[in-house]
Amino acid sequence: MKGILLAGGKGTRLYPITTSISKQILPVFNKPMIYYPMSVLMLAGIRDILIISSPEHIGLYRDLFGDGTMLGLRLNYAVQPEPKGVAQALTIGADFIGSDPSALIFGDNFLYGHGLSELIVRAGKLTDGALVFAYRVLDARPYGVVEFDKDMNALSIEEKPQKPKSNYAVTGLYFYDKHVVEIARALKPSARGEYEITHVNAEYLARKKLKVEILGRGFSWLDMGTHESLLEASNFVQTIEHRQGLMVACLEEIAFNQGWITRDQLLKSASISRDNEYCRYLSDLAA
Ligand code: DAU
Repeated sequence: MKGILLAGGKGTRLYPITTSISKQILPVFNKPMIYYPMSVLMLAGIRDILIISSPEHIGLYRDLFGDGTMLGLRLNYAVQPEPKGVAQALTIGADFIGSDPSALIFGDNFLYGHGLSELIVRAGKLTDGALVFAYRVLDARPYGVVEFDKDMNALSIEEKPQKPKSNYAVTGLYFYDKHVVEIARALKPSARGEYEITHVNAEYLARKKLKVEILGRGFSWLDMGTHESLLEASNFVQTIEHRQGLMVACLEEIAFNQGWITRDQLLKSASISRDNEYCRYLSDLAA
């Protein structure tokens, strides 16, 4: 399974913060935003990851993660010349995906909850069809909206409908079989001029191959693309971390628990600073 992390776009909803910086590098409490979706791919057991961003910002992510060795990952980078829609990630990543199944996650999606790891590990074994995650929201109109039957087969999927057929929004995490590139390549831009991920999912639905997994009420899903949701995510992370003394989305911890990095590598990351909470956490972990 290959992973694609899409971290482009203009971030206009976060203006003026994003005038000169990439949205997905902004701090969410004590880590860059991209750490949170990256942790989801890693928890799914995915080590081959392509990060896609704009030509102006891709360098930031290269500086942040390098080739991924310190996290036991194999990272690749690609540029999206213009933000023409999230489904472009799949055609930009075509060579990287090859004929493997793939997972796509948006760099502004925050997913957290007990049992998430088991769900996504299972999803990471997908080889046939597509899987989306549905999350109940009060107002589904700003999202992809999915309707499904009792066997969790999708019945309909629509992008930002005026009259949603259900309260279930589609989160920005998708698992696909090897046919996704061919499907993405055949897409036409939507009325708003974008290559829509919902159209990819609609094609799987037409083939009767679109499954849905619910993220129930014990989960948190936030898209961190507005000032309010950015602050909500920061507050949420702070609350959980301070209460439990465990970090949310500590990438070195996940890599270490997965057996992808050694204790020495963990200590090396911990040695970056002595008076930093994140580094102290890593050194406690190593001890
Ligand atoms: O967050 C989940 C939602 O994401 C889904 O429910 C929708 O079905 C899906 O279309 C998408 O909707 P959004 O309107 O929230 O997508 P947005 O344009 O905000 O893009 C999602 C992320 O992808 C965001 O971090 C910016 C980045 N992006 C976006 C575009 C359009 C790119 O990197 N390149 C792009 O071309």
